[in-house]
Amino acid sequence: MATHKLLLLPGDGIGPEVMAEVRRVLAVIERKGLIAFEIDEDLVGGSAYDVHGKAISDEAVAKAHAADAVLLGAVGGPKWDGVAYEHRPEAGLLRLRKDLELFANLRPAICYPALADASALKRELVDGLDLMIVRELTGGVYFGEPKEITDLPNGQKRAVDTQVYETYEIERIAEVAFELARVRGNRVTSAEKRNVMKSGLLWNQVVTATHAQGYEDVKLDHMLADALGMQLVRAPKQFDVIVTDNLFGDILSDVASMLTGSLGMLPSASLGAEDPVTGKRKALYEPVHGSAPDIAGKGVANPLAMIASLAMALKYSLGKPDLADTLDRAIAAVLANGYRTGDIYVEGAKRVGTAEMGEAVAAAFDKLLAA
Ligand code: NAD
Ligand code: IPM
Ligand code: MN
Repeated sequence: MATHKLLLLPGDGIGPEVMAEVRRVLAVIERKGLIAFEIDEDLVGGSAYDVHGKAISDEAVAKAHAADAVLLGAVGGPKWDGVAYEHRPEAGLLRLRKDLELFANLRPAICYPALADASALKRELVDGLDLMIVRELTGGVYFGEPKEITDLPNGQKRAVDTQVYETYEIERIAEVAFELARVRGNRVTSAEKRNVMKSGLLWNQVVTATHAQGYEDVKLDHMLADALGMQLVRAPKQFDVIVTDNLFGDILSDVASMLTGSLGMLPSASLGAEDPVTGKRKALYEPVHGSAPDIAGKGVANPLAMIASLAMALKYSLGKPDLADTLDRAIAAVLANGYRTGDIYVEGAKRVGTAEMGEAVAAAFDKLLAA
C-alpha cells in the first residue's frame, strides 16, 4: 500500500484542541489498514513565532511542499498583537497559501438536518442547504503591491492595499467553479463589484468568457457582492456554487457559516493546480474558523470543521472519496444523536466538549466502516 505523507500544523488557540480529534479519526483509518500514513507535525502561527521568531520556518514550508496533504488548525491570538506586521501569526498561513500556490479555496456550507434549529435563520430557509463557496486565495487585495503605511508631509499617515487580478487568475478559479458545479447542481453565481471596481469589471468579463469556452452547459449568473450577501441570508438555498475573489470570499464564507449553525462547522480545502505529469495537486485543509481565543484552553471548541476538513483531504488528496463520505455520515449520525458542543447547542441536546465530540465521531466512523 502506498504511503501518504500528511503534515499536521495545529497552530494556536483551539487549533491544537481540534487537531487532537483529527488524530483520533486518523488512528481509526490506520488501525483498519485503510490508508498507510507518514504523519509529521510542525509549528505555524504564534507558536512558530515563539520558537523561530517568524510565523513559519522554511523547514516547515518545505515539508508542506513535500506532503500529499497539509492539515492546519488555526493561527492567531491576542498574545501576538504586538509583534511586527510581517511576523504576525496570520503571515504564516498566508505564506503557505502563496508559496504552495493554493489558489482555489473550497468552502462548502452544508446544513445538517439535525442542525437546522441551531442556525441563525429559520429552519425552512436552511434545511437541506448545500452550497459551495469557491474563493480565489492567492491574489486580490491580500497580496497586491503596494501594501504599506507611509508618512505624509502634513503629519498624517496614508495606508494602501492594492486589489489586483490578472486574466489567468480569474480564468483558473472560474474553471474550478464550473467543474465543481457539473458534479453538483450545475449552477454558478459569480460575485464582484463591477459597478465600482476595475478588478470587478475584469472578473465579470473573464468569468463570462471562460463560461463561453466550453462550460455553456453550466448555468451562470452574476451578482454584485453586496447583493449576494443579502441574498445569502434572505434565501440561501437559491445558490449552488458561488465564485468570488479573496476578500469577498473570506467575508461571505463567515456569513454562510451561520446558516449551518456555527462557524465551528465549516471546513475548507485550498488546492493548487494539477501537476500535468503526476496528476497530483498541492493541498491544505483547514477549518474556516480561527483560533477562537475566547474559548481556547477550555476543551469546548467544536472539532467538526476540522474533522470535516480531513474528510475533504480524503476526497481531494488521498483518493478515498468513499471514506470521505463515510466520515461525513459519521458526523451527521453524531449530530442526529443529539451531541452538541456549546456553539451548536439547543435545549434538550447532549452538551459535550471537544474530546467527547471527537470520540463520538471516531466511534460512529468505526461502526459505519464495520457495517
Ligand atoms: P474566530 O473564528 O477565531 O472566532 C469567532 C467566534 O467564533 C468566536 O466567538 C469563537 O469562539 C467562535 N468559534 C470559532 N471557531 C469555533 C469552534 N470550532 N467551536 C466553537 N466556537 C468557535 O475569529 P476571530 O475571533 O475573529 O479571530 C481570532 C484569531 O483567529 C485572529 O487572530 C484571526 O486572525 C485568527 N483567524 C485565523 C484563521 C485561520 O487560522 N484560518 C481564520 C480566521 C481567523
Ligand atoms: C480565513 C482567515 C484568514 C483569511 C486569515 C487568518 C489570514 O480569516 O482563512 O478565513 O483572511 O484568509
Ligand atoms: Mn476568514
